[in-house]
Amino acid sequence: MSRVYQPSDYVVEKSRVPSFDKYKEMHKKSLEDPEAFWSEIANEFHWQTPPQPGNFLSYNFDINKGDIFIKWMEGAVTNVCFNLLDRNVRNGHGDKIAYYWEGNHPDDYSRVTYKKLMDQVCQFANALRDSGVGKGDRVSIYMPMILETIVCMLACARIGAIHSVVFAGFSSDSLAERMADCKAKVLVTSDGAWRGQKLLILKNICDEALEKAKSLHDHSVQMCIVVSHLNRVTPCGKLPDDIKTLYKWDDDRDVWWHDLVEGQSTICPPEWMDAEDPLFMLYTSGSTGKPKGVLHTTAGYLVYATTTFRYVFDYRDKDIFWCTADVGWITGHTYVVYAPLANAATSVIFEGTPFYPENDRYWSLVDKYKVSQFYTAPTAIRSLTKFGDHYVKMHNLKSLRVLGSVGEPINPEAWLWYYNLIGGGRCSIADTFWQTETGGHVLTSLPGATPMKPGAAGFPFFGVEPNLLDENGKLIEGPGEGYLVFSRPWPGIMRTLFGDHGRYEKVYFSKFPGYYCTGDGARRDEDGFLWVTGRIDDMLNVSGHLMSTAEVEGVLTEEPRVSEAAVVSKPHPIKGESLYCFVILNEGAKFDDNLVACLKKLVRQRIGAFAAPDVIQYAPGLPKTRSGKIMRRILRKVALGDKDIGDTSTLADPGVVDELFKNRP
Ligand code: WTA
Repeated sequence: MSRVYQPSDYVVEKSRVPSFDKYKEMHKKSLEDPEAFWSEIANEFHWQTPPQPGNFLSYNFDINKGDIFIKWMEGAVTNVCFNLLDRNVRNGHGDKIAYYWEGNHPDDYSRVTYKKLMDQVCQFANALRDSGVGKGDRVSIYMPMILETIVCMLACARIGAIHSVVFAGFSSDSLAERMADCKAKVLVTSDGAWRGQKLLILKNICDEALEKAKSLHDHSVQMCIVVSHLNRVTPCGKLPDDIKTLYKWDDDRDVWWHDLVEGQSTICPPEWMDAEDPLFMLYTSGSTGKPKGVLHTTAGYLVYATTTFRYVFDYRDKDIFWCTADVGWITGHTYVVYAPLANAATSVIFEGTPFYPENDRYWSLVDKYKVSQFYTAPTAIRSLTKFGDHYVKMHNLKSLRVLGSVGEPINPEAWLWYYNLIGGGRCSIADTFWQTETGGHVLTSLPGATPMKPGAAGFPFFGVEPNLLDENGKLIEGPGEGYLVFSRPWPGIMRTLFGDHGRYEKVYFSKFPGYYCTGDGARRDEDGFLWVTGRIDDMLNVSGHLMSTAEVEGVLTEEPRVSEAAVVSKPHPIKGESLYCFVILNEGAKFDDNLVACLKKLVRQRIGAFAAPDVIQYAPGLPKTRSGKIMRRILRKVALGDKDIGDTSTLADPGVVDELFKNRP
């Protein structure tokens, strides 16, 4: 039994939801009368046409009853960017700081107020419009963590263009695939950026990706907009005298951001959008390999992002919020950009890494900006625990009140370190379970309201009704473990996969008709806490980055020496999971260091550095069922070196298992 931590008086005193009973009452209300519950928040926003009573929510979650659809506030008309900027400026927050930007180098920092941000967004939005970008067009964004990234996203929202941010750690292949899939009109990037002492020339990756999109996918992106970033920051390593020699320039396609916005007006009428018009799309890994373009829409996402931020971080007017996630992931979309701005919050946005120039960078920034809510990932926490407590103790962290965790289950050891050392035993930890698809937190503890257990995601957010199902779709009531599903939509849930509604229905709604299936397993304990146990489909979570085994296997078999590959996850002390790959070779091919190096390089090239396999093992054969399905359960045991493999009676060739154990590197 794990210990229950009650929220401290320090947190409860300030909390919007100051008791567990109050949480339960609000949660009940949110399910019984969604319209009343969500209208209260929706009413804070500016609507050209307000949500119509009685037409607040319509949906079908049951594939047997017809097409899946989800509509919140249909008929209402608004603009998300207008609500994030103009509305706040009109409400007297114009001079309030929207972001403190902290560069990779500690000497580089700046700040932007709501009014300034609005001006910049309007100018860039006008520039996009002048370049022929309009409602419904897709804009790909491949950027470091700089203010222009946010400006660009909001400018898209202002003119109704759909942004598709691709994390700038993805390879040119991945970027090409994503630009081609959504047929992006424009790509926005920067010349480069520093990550610690490493120089990344993003423009080169973009050039390659633009070429690949053209030749492989027959899709031409019309324009590449480039932020000149390198010459305004302190170099953190060696740099040539002329930065421009680092990359090429195509006069017909490439244009500097500063040239494009020069002379643009700071007034830009927003495109008024229907509640269910697309806001943005974001690719996430799919278990069949091809990435899925998760699509979020306007009104529901806005309302849900706003609400989760307000309650889960218990954000107050003078608080300083910091989410360390990159804007390339959903956490960055919702909790670096949309939700903080919707709440007129002040946030920190950080370009660098926790380890540069020293391993105390995070803690020094919490101290520097007096951060009150700090939101990061278990993998970051684990990578920082190993440096010892003195890096933490050098800094004053008393400003903290709420600590967030996201991306994977947090192990109790990391939780306790976070709670005791970073939070001084005073702060609440919100272990937030959610997905690209859910738009915002769906399971979490609420500061001040809910008790906490180290490693448990806790309780459903307002409007969310989680269920656990067994393999046959039978409801598990009370304590037990099963598939984590949701039986009704909340406003922030995705509406479709871009260009592939059939896949959306198949992936999320066909396994258990009537439910949205997360693909994760969860356990409910005797106190009603939910514990997310991890993916139950063929997905891996490496340092919080989700990828599919099929995706990596596909890359490994591209190598001519490899005939078949199987990838499983192996627990890793810092990354959470790591990739352990088995390869079967073609006749005559040799397994050697060269092959291993080539394969690792190939995965980095095709997917990105974060996907690099830890182990590649030679396999004379793979354990398969008689129907030919790879038994990954057994491969996971081989990866662990654990010979207790259980029942192998369904294996076509049990002899292969011994061979695999013998061949472990
Ligand atoms: C995992 C990230 C346990 C889970 C917001 C989910 C978590 C996947 C948690 C989504 C958590 C995320 N506890 N598991 N607090 N947060 N996950 O789409 O497997 O990048 O399905 O969204 O991460 O990853 P995604």
